[in-house]
Amino acid sequence: MSVDHLAPRKQRQERLTLVGPGTPMGKYMRCFWQPVAAVAELAENPVIAVRVLGESLALYRNENGTYGLVAERCPHRGTSLACGMLEDNHLVCAYHAWKFDGNGNCVETPAEPANSKLKARIKIAAYPVQEMAGLLWAYLGEAPAPLLPRFEHMVRDDWEWDIGISRMPCNWLQVAENTLDPLHIEYLHMKYTNYARGRLGLSPVKTRHHAKIDFELFEYGIIKKRLWEGDTEDSEEWKTGHPQLFPGIAVVPYTAEWVQYQIRVPADDTHTTHYWLNCREREAGKAPRTHSPIWENPWLTPEGKFMPDVLNAQDMMVMISQGDITDHSVENLGESDRGVALYRKTLLDQVDRVERGLDPLGVVRDPQKNTPWIELPVEKHLGYTLEGVAASTTYDFPEREVTVT
Ligand code: FES
Ligand SMILES: [Fe+2]
Repeated sequence: MSVDHLAPRKQRQERLTLVGPGTPMGKYMRCFWQPVAAVAELAENPVIAVRVLGESLALYRNENGTYGLVAERCPHRGTSLACGMLEDNHLVCAYHAWKFDGNGNCVETPAEPANSKLKARIKIAAYPVQEMAGLLWAYLGEAPAPLLPRFEHMVRDDWEWDIGISRMPCNWLQVAENTLDPLHIEYLHMKYTNYARGRLGLSPVKTRHHAKIDFELFEYGIIKKRLWEGDTEDSEEWKTGHPQLFPGIAVVPYTAEWVQYQIRVPADDTHTTHYWLNCREREAGKAPRTHSPIWENPWLTPEGKFMPDVLNAQDMMVMISQGDITDHSVENLGESDRGVALYRKTLLDQVDRVERGLDPLGVVRDPQKNTPWIELPVEKHLGYTLEGVAASTTYDFPEREVTVT
């Protein structure tokens, strides 16, 4: 009998990457509230199709301001409910007007005889939705749902939000684990930047070297710390660092008044929706925003080429070019990858916990923890500036921000 020596590696690969219903990682991911869209995506049409964790869903906003999220496929004959209409705070299929409430119950089948019992046995998947920081967060897991964690920068009423969206054709893990790879700043965002800028005839950006890196588990995930050569151990990046919130949210403090949450949500096994949630302290005297604008954060030029000199596009270039699902079983990790190794091990530990019926790291059920908000360890200043690569100056994009009233 032959023994498949690669079986444990293959199994680990699948446990880490696959997120569909019933998969171990999919069950773990469903323990968390996940963004399914930005509020502004419903500005033109209050019913849209969304894809999250391998499920195709219809998301809608009722006239009374509540939200619904149900399985996209109509159980009658399969038309997309994202093509449907809203009526009396219910979602109605466009084809034969079957009507669904927010719990997925079918309440009307108007083409059937008045005495039909058909609707009584029709029910579709339905999930709760909450709004926070311009995003719509849904819970696709088992009841009872935990609390939606109120992270400080997302709930303070003197802060405001705008949201970049990138729909990336690759597995979620190769996007999320980038946060646990501090060394890539020095190489991708500095060395490679200067190579790319040199080819474009642009001046180089300032480079720095890491003296050491460290990682620490905490209540909501892993804190990443780095010490730059030339800095003392009193530097905030070494003493405080910044976190990766589990399952896959990086908290990046560009300044004391501007913190970016990089939220990676698996659309399915080979697609990731990346929300770049900019949280900014509102300028004194400025009126509060009536909406949180959205914008597309592209990784390709309008001509379909990578943008090697643009910060976010550099990250997306290296992640997407790893392939639709990177085969982690054939990688060669080194000492500099120990943050990535810790992240994967901790994720798999959490997958095990969920299989044992326990809450994973970062799930919040205690209202006191959420009141008034959850403070996070986040350094106030980064020891490097990526000026020159932060925005595209070399590519000609049409207007990107969507104005929503
Ligand atoms: S397919 Fe939806 S009501 Fe007929
Ligand atoms: Fe990066």
